[in-house]
Amino acid sequence: MQNISNYQKAFIAYLQQYAKPKQPENLYNPINYILELGGKRLRPVLTLMTAEIFDANHRDAFDAALSVEIFHNFSLVHDDIMDDAPLRRGQQTVHEKWDINTGILSGDAMLIMAYQLFENYEPKTFQALAKLFSKTALEVCEGQQYDVDFETRDDVTISEYLKMIEYKTAVLVGAAMKMGAIVAKTSEENKESIYHFGRLLGIAFQLQDDYLDAFGDPKTFGKQIGGDIIENKKTYLYLKALEYLDADKKRQLEQLYSVQLEDNKDKIETVKQFFVESGSAKATQNAIEEYTNKAFKILDDLTISEEKKQLLKEFGMGLMTRKV
Ligand code: IPE
Ligand code: IPE
Ligand code: MG
Ligand code: MG
Ligand code: MG
Repeated sequence: MQNISNYQKAFIAYLQQYAKPKQPENLYNPINYILELGGKRLRPVLTLMTAEIFDANHRDAFDAALSVEIFHNFSLVHDDIMDDAPLRRGQQTVHEKWDINTGILSGDAMLIMAYQLFENYEPKTFQALAKLFSKTALEVCEGQQYDVDFETRDDVTISEYLKMIEYKTAVLVGAAMKMGAIVAKTSEENKESIYHFGRLLGIAFQLQDDYLDAFGDPKTFGKQIGGDIIENKKTYLYLKALEYLDADKKRQLEQLYSVQLEDNKDKIETVKQFFVESGSAKATQNAIEEYTNKAFKILDDLTISEEKKQLLKEFGMGLMTRKV
C-alpha cells in the first residue's frame, strides 16, 4: 500500500494522458476544462486504494478510477446547470463559461466516455463493472430528481433527505470502492462490505458538503457560499432548524425558503443565523461524525490488515475535517 497522496498523483498523471484536445473543440474543450480543473479526486483514489486493499495492483484499476471520475464530473456539469451555480473549484462552471447547450452535450459525452473505459477489462470484469455502474448512475439520477423536487416541497422529512443524499452522492462513493474490489476479484462478501463502508462515508461526505455550502470559507470552498440557501435546498441544516426553532422563527425560516430573490445577501445571513442559534449547525456536525463512525464500524468485520484499516480511517477522518 502507498499513502493517499501517491494514489492521487498517480491518478492525475493517468488522467492527463487521457484528456487530450480533440475535434470538435466545442464538445471536447469543456470536457477537458472540467476534468483538469482539479477537485479532490477522492472517488478515483478510493478505487485505486481499494484495489490494493484486496491485493491487486492499483494500475489495474486506473480505467475504473478514471471512469468514476469522469462520471462524477459529468454529474457536476449537469448539476451546476440544475442548481444555477456560477462557480466550481474556484472557476466558472461549464455552462457559464460556454452555455447551457454545451453543458448538456459535453456532459452526455462524458457519461458515454465513462462507460467506454470498461471496454479495457476482460468480459467478466467488464460485465460486473457495467452492471454496478448502470445501477449507480440511475440512482444518482433519482437522487438528483428528489433534490430538485424537494426545493418546492415544504413537508420533506429527515428520512427522505437521507435517502436523497444516499442516492445522489453516497452510492457513487460506495461504487467507486466496489469497482476497485471488482478489479481485484475479491470475494462477494468483501465487495459488499466495502460498498457499505463507502456508502456510509458518502452520507457523511454530503452532510459535510451541505454544511460547507453555508459555513465554508469562500476563499477555499470553490463554490458559491449560500448556494443551497438561494435555491431553497432542503438540507439537514434546514430540516433540523425547523425542528428546533420556536413556532415564530420556524415560520420566518419557512417564509424565507418559499421565495426566489434577486438579491440574496440578507436571506443568506438570516438563514445562517437560524442554523447556528437553533443548534442545527451543531446537529449537522454531530451527524457527520455519526455516519463516519458507522462507516468505521464496518471495518471491524473486514479481514484485512490493521495497516489497511488505518489507511481507510485516515481517509475518512480527512473528509470529516476538510475545508474544500
Ligand atoms: C461535489 O463533489 C459534489 C458532491 C457530491 C458533494 P466533490 O466535493 O468530491 O467535488 P470535487 O471533485 O472535489 O470538486
Ligand atoms: C451534487 O450535490 C450531487 C451530484 C452532483 C450528483 P450538490 O448540488 O450539493 O453538489 P455541489 O455542492 O454542487 O458540488
Ligand atoms: Mg450543486
Ligand atoms: Mg445539486
Ligand atoms: Mg452541495
